[in-house]
Amino acid sequence: MKITIIGTGYVGLVTGACLAEVGHDVFCLDVDQRKIDILNAGGIPIHEPGLDEVVARNRAAGRLQFSTDVAASVAHGDVQFIAVGTPPDEDGSADLQYVVAAARNIGRHMTGFKVIVDKSTVPVGTAGKVSAAIAEELQKRNAAIGYSVTSNPEFLKEGAAVADFMKPDRIVIGHEADETGLQAQAVMRQVYAKFEENGHKIYWMDVRSAEFTKYAANAMLATRISFMNELANLADKVGVDIEAVRHGIGSDPRIGPSFLLAGCGYGGSCFPKDVQALSRTAQEYGQDLRILAAVEEVNEAQKQVLGAKVRSRFGADLKGKHFALWGLAFKPDTDDMRAASSRVLIEELLSAGASIAAFDPVAIEEAKRVLALDFANRPELLQQIRFVDSQDAALANADALIIVTEWKTFRQTNLASIQAGLKNAIVFDGRNLYDPALVKQAGIEYHAIGRAVLTKN
Ligand code: UDX
Repeated sequence: MKITIIGTGYVGLVTGACLAEVGHDVFCLDVDQRKIDILNAGGIPIHEPGLDEVVARNRAAGRLQFSTDVAASVAHGDVQFIAVGTPPDEDGSADLQYVVAAARNIGRHMTGFKVIVDKSTVPVGTAGKVSAAIAEELQKRNAAIGYSVTSNPEFLKEGAAVADFMKPDRIVIGHEADETGLQAQAVMRQVYAKFEENGHKIYWMDVRSAEFTKYAANAMLATRISFMNELANLADKVGVDIEAVRHGIGSDPRIGPSFLLAGCGYGGSCFPKDVQALSRTAQEYGQDLRILAAVEEVNEAQKQVLGAKVRSRFGADLKGKHFALWGLAFKPDTDDMRAASSRVLIEELLSAGASIAAFDPVAIEEAKRVLALDFANRPELLQQIRFVDSQDAALANADALIIVTEWKTFRQTNLASIQAGLKNAIVFDGRNLYDPALVKQAGIEYHAIGRAVLTKN
């Protein structure tokens, strides 16, 4: 099938590459010439394991092309996926200007029946707006051409995006019930035929329910994390090991074992944005989503938990103190720094006078970029942070090690080398990476999340 993907961000690029991988003829459009140049030169503008191979293989096979040519992109695909960004507005609701602009372009250039697919995470009712924008453009041209807008939210995780797309837990597709809607359903079934053959289930529903499903999923997951974080903070006080509790409750199939890890808060491009956007939608309909407000509040506070633990160990004034920082990205296997907990911690430490030697396997360049923006008004503070090229190098002369991201390489580190590398053998672990008994055995003072009962010296 001929498919166009509008937007080559995380979702768009992965969708385009993976749909080419199952044999479709895919045209990826982006307005950003720089991105398209990188892709046409065989590069990948984001860090995503395995994606470069899929892109290279399908470009070589002639099934995947990248361009900034809008008219050509509309002409190419019978199916037009909209996968552009939906950044939060000032009030937290999703900004739909790029989605609507993409829809207008389709309306301006289309000459035959099109199925339009909202792939971006968009609030309930967006398909209606996309449809209206296309109708308006067609009317300006006096053109009577059929089309139908469907909703096909994406559930992939950064760092595991290719695997998540190729082997999805579920495919959610919302379509209209009228004649063109049923035509669109048949087209979408063809788009995902290979996936159905491989046993991946499609959940068909109405468009608004599909749009809502994406927000409900992310809100539910964010709620689990914030709830576990609150329990962990209480565990620290009452002398309970949150990891033991996690195993104890996760074995109940109604709860399930995944996504119960307490830590120093969630970040990323999805949870913070989607939790806010769903709250905004609820407000628009006169309902207060009280649980979701608490989820967000708890998460903001949780990003400060490591800083609070450091201050309660070393005092509020951290002048003259030097810390090793492992992990900058919001999660492993990505260089994404959006809403990363490290940004909150770095701000706290530098403001209190500390210096930092920071290491991350892939996010250092991105960290430099976002920190320059975070500290635009106080650039002098950035003199106190250095970026080093190995985790060992970060340890030298440090009063303590602070771990913010759950990279596998940190988890696999030999505890004796941490003990030997630091000036003071003290570790603040924001991701509960180690067994407290082994850490103690290695002669390290250990401050984790919800494990005080095991880490007291
Ligand atoms: C998330 C959803 O998982 C995905 O389905 C959706 O499409 C986009 O949003 P992503 O943001 O890539 O994906 O990351 P995810 O792996 O879900 O982690 C999000 C954050 O939660 C990270 O900061 C991670 O460290 C944190 N997290 C995750 C926890 O604190 N505890 C957990 O148990 C799991």
